[in-house]
Amino acid sequence: MCGIVGYTGPREAGPILMEGLSRLEYRGYDSAGIALVDEEGQMFVEKKAGKLANLSTAIAERTPHSAMGIAHTRWATHGRPNDLNAHPHADCSGKITVIHNGIIENFRELRDGLEARGHRLESETDTEALAHLVEEAYAGDLADAVRAALRRVEGAYAIAVMHRDEHGRLVGARKDVPLIVGLNGEESFIASDVAAILAHTNRVIFLEEGDIADVRPSGVEITNVAGVPQDRAETVIDWSPEVAEKGGFEHFMLKEIHEQPNALRQALAGRVTRDHRIHVPEIEAMIPTLGTITRIELVACGTASYAAQVGASALEAWTGLPARVTVGSEFRYSPPPLDAGTLVIAVTQSGETADTIAPTRLARERGCPIIAVTNTVGSAITREAGAVLFLQAGPEIAVAASKTFVTQVTTLVVLAAAIARIRGSMTEAAEIELAHALRDLPDAAQRALELNAPHASDLARRYVNSRGFMFVGRGATYPAALEGALKLKEISYVHAEGYPAGELKHGPISLLDAECPLVAIATRSSTYDKLISNVMEGRARDARVIAVATEGDLQIERFADDVAWVPATHEAVSSVLAIIPLQLFAYHMAIARGTDVDQPRNLAKSVTVE
Ligand code: F6R
Repeated sequence: MCGIVGYTGPREAGPILMEGLSRLEYRGYDSAGIALVDEEGQMFVEKKAGKLANLSTAIAERTPHSAMGIAHTRWATHGRPNDLNAHPHADCSGKITVIHNGIIENFRELRDGLEARGHRLESETDTEALAHLVEEAYAGDLADAVRAALRRVEGAYAIAVMHRDEHGRLVGARKDVPLIVGLNGEESFIASDVAAILAHTNRVIFLEEGDIADVRPSGVEITNVAGVPQDRAETVIDWSPEVAEKGGFEHFMLKEIHEQPNALRQALAGRVTRDHRIHVPEIEAMIPTLGTITRIELVACGTASYAAQVGASALEAWTGLPARVTVGSEFRYSPPPLDAGTLVIAVTQSGETADTIAPTRLARERGCPIIAVTNTVGSAITREAGAVLFLQAGPEIAVAASKTFVTQVTTLVVLAAAIARIRGSMTEAAEIELAHALRDLPDAAQRALELNAPHASDLARRYVNSRGFMFVGRGATYPAALEGALKLKEISYVHAEGYPAGELKHGPISLLDAECPLVAIATRSSTYDKLISNVMEGRARDARVIAVATEGDLQIERFADDVAWVPATHEAVSSVLAIIPLQLFAYHMAIARGTDVDQPRNLAKSVTVE
């Protein structure tokens, strides 16, 4: 996600903010910007697309003396990564500047209203609307204005706001996106991450949901959005700079596994409405085409191809059209029949995978309508597609995909439901049932983490000497078996295979014995009983069994040596929850085996060659 730093105090703000941004560089970003109030009380704003060095060059020699400012690294979710869309954003008067991390869900309505009331919005971002809302509410007190503005906002945000005329005052606020305040005697900070300010202070307040922080050099007052004071304890951080970069986790992968509830919230922002309907504005221009397609081909590689399998099942079930997944490297040289009636959905978190881009281009040349599902604004795949759905998961640094898998699954399921509704093949009741499950999914993911994170290390240690693993699922749980096996093999280098459970007896069962455990994705589903029969076949060969099961399943412990519990959910998104204990298991297996978790051997984050 984006990076936020704010400073108020007796020192020069410019260098402190630029150094803070450089501490956040590791997370990846596409543009950066800074706002400072100079000694004459004038607002100085500079923003630049690309590397932080571009911003440094732009402000070198002309950074004003300033005792307060805010700065930002952006990772685009709304609007292209260019100078104009970079933060900070200002109001019409140029007196108020805002930086923001997150997504304002009702920003289109807000923008329309603001423009109708005469505001001029210059960028394509959701954030700019916030600056103008604060302007409308401003009557001499910035914290009051921010509280009033936020009462009109739906969505997830961490923000920092500054008014030219309110010397020494920064206002921060958070909802569903982290924000901290740093304290250091005569100076104070606002930041998205501890890493940004650790060089200056280790005294930190972690803001809680709905907090508004009124930050002055001498300290902070915290209220809720209604202005009621909130008491928040100060924490003294003893993290090293390396640990701080990873948000206190030992590895990026573990951090990203724990970010999944939030990533899901962001992925669903604006896509499930308050009245429990599915809403995908990105495909509105394609509605006539989507009404006439006859087949759907999904193209992807690796983890993305397993997420695509979930999408294909949902598309088939809800549209009645044939839908299948082909990995990019096969699609390219043995393409299926492609014509204007074939919808091609390309799934790639990086948006730069050569094996996925080439077949998508081929399909476009043959006249297929194309939808891309990616995490990366401005990536190559976006230029091949008629419509693009962004995962909005924030940057993923660990090579092994985690939060991009769960957000790919979720976004594809949302897309499948939207296409089915356009075609009239999904009932309103089915849509509403799905929307309820999607709304609950981020909290369910949080619960899955809480149920499994405390035990995952012990579980891994019990199995660390196994020769290999057989992951099995059936129907909706099969893609999670494939992804669970891939996670384990790519980071711990232990051999693991994912199989449809019914296939065990057709060959792979010969591998099972006391050294080759079975990992069964046995969450509640229409094929649960069949899967249990397959697990029994494995147990009869002395294989130990780890089951991923739905909370409340009273019989699973009779069939499994170990159970990883996950909450119940809609079958279409069951893999989102089922994968969480398997990611943790893979992570702790890698730790127990001493491998490089974040950068496993022979692998790259983005595979841009064939
Ligand atoms: C596994 C993993 C890879 C990628 C694959 C496609 O953890 O990350 O299997 O899923 O290389 O990458 P993208 O999604 O960037 O096209």
